[in-house]
Amino acid sequence: KDLDSFITGLPKAELHLHIEGSLEPELMFALARRNKVDIPFASVEDVRAAYQFSNLQDFLDIYYAGAQVLREAEDFRDLASAYFARAAADNVRHAEIFFDPQTHTDRGIPFDVVMEGLLSGMAEAEQAGVTSKLILCFLRHLDEEAALATFKQAEKWLDRIAGVGLDSSEMGHPPAKFARVFAAAGEAGLKRVAHAGEEGPPAYVWEALDLLKVDRLDHGNRAMEDAALVQRLAEEQMTLTVCPLSNLKLCVVKDLAQHPIDAMLEAGLAATINSDDPAYFGGYVAENYRAVAKARGLSRGQIAQLARNSFTGSFLSEAEKAAHI
Ligand code: HPA
Ligand code: ZN
Repeated sequence: KDLDSFITGLPKAELHLHIEGSLEPELMFALARRNKVDIPFASVEDVRAAYQFSNLQDFLDIYYAGAQVLREAEDFRDLASAYFARAAADNVRHAEIFFDPQTHTDRGIPFDVVMEGLLSGMAEAEQAGVTSKLILCFLRHLDEEAALATFKQAEKWLDRIAGVGLDSSEMGHPPAKFARVFAAAGEAGLKRVAHAGEEGPPAYVWEALDLLKVDRLDHGNRAMEDAALVQRLAEEQMTLTVCPLSNLKLCVVKDLAQHPIDAMLEAGLAATINSDDPAYFGGYVAENYRAVAKARGLSRGQIAQLARNSFTGSFLSEAEKAAHI
């Protein structure tokens, strides 16, 4: 079998996917029309041409602008349905998807509208054989009070939310800023994850572990700069949700040929491959596997290990994991 079909054929879990980042330009235009929302683009080609980023913030500015077209529950359902269709084509069997409620509630969209739409897309996907869980992300460029208020809004939905996460602008917004809301989420029995070490220093990864008590680490690239930290992550078998095409597009790596994915595996880290914001970064999960496998010359054994790690690192029960591996 050729490498492409080997990769597509592997059963996978996706553990780092921002649902708002799966908004393809075609759907953005359709929703802008349906909801009579103005967008600063003349055409789909115009949108794609704007997707050239020199850092995380560059991307976030355009990602938050795109999300403005999402207004009704059916918009969130259509967004989720479109993602699950792409994921199923890549043989994704389970997805743990991030959503950013503050991006929506701050422009007057009720929290419940977001939840109802996403849950409806997830229920439809489950019928088609793809299971999923939701992870509520707090926007770290906003203050902790705002995160606590969002967590309060989520209260009645906690049986439908698997965990909390932390995303948006990393530099200047260390995990320590969110220690209280993460403690509250832990008290409520939720899993905890956080983006750390994408642009931020190893110290932010230490904080995510020690202050936020994360169950999984999102990105974690810069942990590789700190040998003691690598040792800690390996000892704890902490899952890292690595996103190769995101790393390339946001200039976290200069070139995929310099991507640390195999160095992570060789250091004994529980790395996984994920798409982050596939509509913006040029590829869904299988394309992330393919691109980094070719650039780094990964063996089939390494590729299969990455796919296995995605189930091991998921928030499925041990019995559910065993059924996938
Ligand atoms: N990093 C931080 N925040 C994000 C990202 C990311 O890669 N994608 C969507 N929000
Ligand atoms: Zn992300």
